[in-house]
Amino acid sequence: MDTTGKVIKCKAAVAWEPNKPLVIEEIEVAPPQANEVRIKIVATSVCHSDLYHLYEGMHKDGFPVVLGHEAAGIVESVGSGVTEFKPGDKVIPLFLSQCRSCLFCKSPKTNHCIKSWSEIRQDAMTAPDSRLSCKGKKILQFLGVSTFSEYSVVNEIKLAKIHPDAPLDKVCLIGCGICTGYGSAVNTAKVEEGSTCAVFGLGAVGLAAVMGCKAAGAKRIIAVDTNPEKFEKAKIFGATDFVNPKDHSKPIHEVLVEMTNGGVDFSLECVGNASVVESALHSTVKAWGVSVIVGYTVVQKFTARPVDLICGRTWKGALFGGFKAKDGVMEMVKRYMEKKLMVDEFITHNMDLCQIMEAVELMKKAKCIRVVMKTSPQ
Ligand code: APR
Ligand code: ZN
Repeated sequence: MDTTGKVIKCKAAVAWEPNKPLVIEEIEVAPPQANEVRIKIVATSVCHSDLYHLYEGMHKDGFPVVLGHEAAGIVESVGSGVTEFKPGDKVIPLFLSQCRSCLFCKSPKTNHCIKSWSEIRQDAMTAPDSRLSCKGKKILQFLGVSTFSEYSVVNEIKLAKIHPDAPLDKVCLIGCGICTGYGSAVNTAKVEEGSTCAVFGLGAVGLAAVMGCKAAGAKRIIAVDTNPEKFEKAKIFGATDFVNPKDHSKPIHEVLVEMTNGGVDFSLECVGNASVVESALHSTVKAWGVSVIVGYTVVQKFTARPVDLICGRTWKGALFGGFKAKDGVMEMVKRYMEKKLMVDEFITHNMDLCQIMEAVELMKKAKCIRVVMKTSPQ
């Protein structure tokens, strides 16, 4: 049945209120307007930013909302003015836009796009911009995307066309966690050949950072996690040394400085904890160490003394691993198709969208790396 131009009724997981379980509801998805694309989401996974909005979100008015931003799907129909996409194209929605024409997009110094920055609300689209509704109420689109749904509508600047043979239930992970970790090593830290690196936190983001360090030619990659069950996976991605801070009475940065005769060249914080951010900085060699903050936290603050940086260290941060959103996702999918990038190894569970609360619980308890959910039984 041709659905072009019609409202689509489909299943979605709606977050009606903060701190409450998501509810599977029938929602209505309006046709795409000018420069918008309606997509059938085929596979999606839960990421920490979804949980952050649900449980710790700053915006109490960010509800009701359909969460989800790590996904892959197929174009269903396009609005007027869209030339880059056509029905049937395989795509990955992006939480960061790339319009290709603004000052930021034209600069090689940033992966931000002014169109994302100028949105009044970055966590969720404002109600008039949302194409989703349920029981007569507008439902906000998380990060302008909303992928815990069978269908969604996104602006064409927030969509990447990918290889037609790409398996959507795998490459969906490239939409957030994998690019974030991998790019933080390759683009932001600019890890060098023969260097020594430390990665703090071995969830999907940290494991992708380990993979990025290896791809950049690091000689020694020290994987740090308080959960030793994560070490086996880290080895598969290229880690050479494994440290559990709980096994040591000394501060963890002292342990790393001793292990490396003065500190690592590059460190990456992939936990989202301010005290780990400080440990990661102090683990680097004073004269030229580079430390990258990857893990996300808004409320916590960290401290350092000016001398910690005056000695020669660099402290950096980046969103989405510094990748320009469209270009980065297209390139990373291509690398996966050429068997130069591991993706399948991140998937520990496969489920149906109806089981989303099971996936949320697994993520909260860190009992998984990534849970991939199909939106409809295949
Ligand atoms: N030191 C080292 N590792 C720690 C510590 C600590 N003090 N505390 C927690 N960890 C480990 C956990 O054991 C877990 O393996 O950090 C890892 C975090 O992994 P996940 O919870 O699976 O998170 P992930 O999806 O990788 O995201 C990490 O990046 O984008 C952000 O919002 C995201 O802040 C989150 C971070
Ligand atoms: Zn732009």
